[in-house]
Formats: sequence, structure tokens, C-alpha cells
Amino acid sequence: MSDEKKILLSGVKPTGRPHIGNYLGAMKQFVDLQDKYASHIMIADFHDLGSQTPDDLRSNTLEIAIDHLAIGLDPEKVVFFRQSDVPEHTELAWIFNGVVTVPYLQRAHAYKDAVAKGKEPIMTLFAYPVLMATDILMYDADVVPVGQDQKQHVEYARDIAQKFNNTYGDTFKLPEPLILESVATVPGTDGQKMSKSYNNTIPLFANDEEIEKAVMSIVTDSGTEAESSLAMKYVERQSQEFPRPVNLFLIHRLFRGENELVSLYKENRKNYKKLKEMLTGDMKAFITPFRERREAIAKDTSAVLHILKNGGERAREKAQLKMRDVRTKVGLPLH
Ligand code: TYM
Repeated sequence: MSDEKKILLSGVKPTGRPHIGNYLGAMKQFVDLQDKYASHIMIADFHDLGSQTPDDLRSNTLEIAIDHLAIGLDPEKVVFFRQSDVPEHTELAWIFNGVVTVPYLQRAHAYKDAVAKGKEPIMTLFAYPVLMATDILMYDADVVPVGQDQKQHVEYARDIAQKFNNTYGDTFKLPEPLILESVATVPGTDGQKMSKSYNNTIPLFANDEEIEKAVMSIVTDSGTEAESSLAMKYVERQSQEFPRPVNLFLIHRLFRGENELVSLYKENRKNYKKLKEMLTGDMKAFITPFRERREAIAKDTSAVLHILKNGGERAREKAQLKMRDVRTKVGLPLH
């Protein structure tokens, strides 16, 4: 029975089209692990409130649901839901606020970055790690598959669980991040971490033209700033001379075996045009089936909404059970 399986939870914000960094760093693991774990995959819409218009938030939530189904997430196996269908998250976040200090939250990367950029952070940015802790702890997650950039958030969840348990008695499991080293930080077309905010992404469901454009834009200059610290870190780990152009290779290895690629890159030294053509071909072969699957699923949006509603009900049942325990422990009445 699924009860004996370890529990997995992860989430993705509905911020628009996912890129291959989201897919390889996290979403692929959701599908690969759906038989092994009792899985919960959440569309984190509370986490992106206020960053986009209400209409965009609604449509992006539907779109990211379609994306997950297109990569093979099976809603029969996975509790696939919208965070906002489980309002208990906000209740638990308030309770967690009572065990978290301000200086502790001031150490969070996202908050520090905002302050460093001279922004006046809003409360939802400041309290982001608290809400994310509720996502993970509400369902007793053992493992949390994520990319490297979310590691600190999982550590916050562990710390908050520990603090709560120390104060009120054993209630929450301590989760572990599950980060695949080879794709922990997928580089973008400019060699920095692939991220929408850096404008360097390759969309997971890109069409042929977008793939060609993205590959053309991959920076190939050697010895310039394009060879980012990310690429150099990877290079340092290799004992022999690293295939060049570094950034092209680092992206290409996501789509073809490294050994084969190393000889291809040696044979075609300096022939960047040919190497880029090969990468374009490999990417098209990889992306096209996903895109076709997505087009088919997108034809029936009411079926997708039904899946989310159903997942939300299953998630909420678990959350309500957990909140009974939490309410009892902290001294609140049961409904
Ligand atoms: P989000 O929506 O920014 O990203 C979704 C997932 O994609 C991973 N990722 C990457 N992995 C490798 N290389 C990259 N370039 C890259 N860019 C993004 C992210 O690490 C993430 O795993 N806070 C989360 C969403 C969230 C969540 C949760 C995750 C909310 N509640 C509970 C886990 C558990 C976020 O903003 O991810």
C-alpha cells in the first residue's frame, strides 16, 4: 500500500512557461519518482500572488497543470493540486510565524537579494520560507525534489519543524532535499543559472523556431564573462581539457551522453556552426514529443481543472487531519 512508501512533496510556481532548467532540475524527478514515493505535487499559486495580474495567475495555473500532465505526471498516482485549494496552508503559516524569528528570516537569500537591490520587500517575500515550510511539512514529506536554488528553503522547513517539535512536542517530520548533482543548476544561454529573470531560458515546450533562436543565442566566446563561474566550477572538476565552447557543451550534455559528445566536440573543434546545428537537432528530438502531447491535453481544459479539483480535495483531507493535531498541540479548539 502507498502508506508504506516514503512521502514526496514538491512545488512549482505558476510563473508562465517552464524552461528546461525547471524540467531537468525538478519536474522530471516528479515523473521518475511517482511510482516509488507517495507523491504530492503542488502548483504554488499562493507563492506568486501579487506578482502577476489575477487573470494571468489563473491562466498560468491552468497552463502549468497542462505542462505537468504533458511530461507524464499521472494524477492517479500523484496528489496533484493547487496550493490555494488548501487554505490550511495559510493557517499553518500563521502558527509557524510564532516559532520563527525575524533575524532568522532576514538570512534568506531571496530576501537579502531584494534588500541588496534597494527594494522594499513585501511581507509575502519576507515570509516566503514560512509558507514553503507549510507546503512541505503539512504532508509529512520525507523528500523534496528541487533544484539547488531551493535548498535553503528546504533547510528552513527542517529548522521550523524542529523548532515547532521542540516547543509543542513531536509533530512534524524533518524533510530532506533531493537534488540531482548533474542538473542541480542548469545553465541558461548566457552561462548563468537558467532563469526567467535573467532572460536566458530555453522553454520546455518551445517550437522549432524558438529552439533555433535559443541555440543561436548560446554564448560561445571563450575566456570572456560568458564563461561564467557556473561553467568554470564544472570545468574545475574535470582533470583533462574541457570541450569548448564550454557553455554550448554544458547545455548539450543535457541532451546527449557526455562521452559521445566529448569526441564530437573534439572532431568539430572551432566549427561552432556545426555544433549548434547538432544541438538544435538533439533539442528538437527531445522537445517535439512533449509539445505534441501538450497540444493534445490542452484541448480539454475542463478535464485538467477536474484533475486539479480532485487533487485539491485529496490534499485538503490530509491537511485537515494534520491541522487537527497542530491545533490540539498549540491550544486551539477543533472545528
Ligand atoms: P520555481 O517555480 O522557481 O522552480 C521550480 C523548480 O525548478 C527548479 N529550477 C531549476 N533547477 C535546475 N536548474 C535551474 N536553472 C532551475 N531553475 C529552477 C527549482 O529549484 C524548483 O525546484 N519555491 C519554489 C516552489 C515551491 C516549492 C514548494 C518547491 C513552493 N512550495 C515546496 C518545493 C517544495 C519555487 O519558487 O520554484
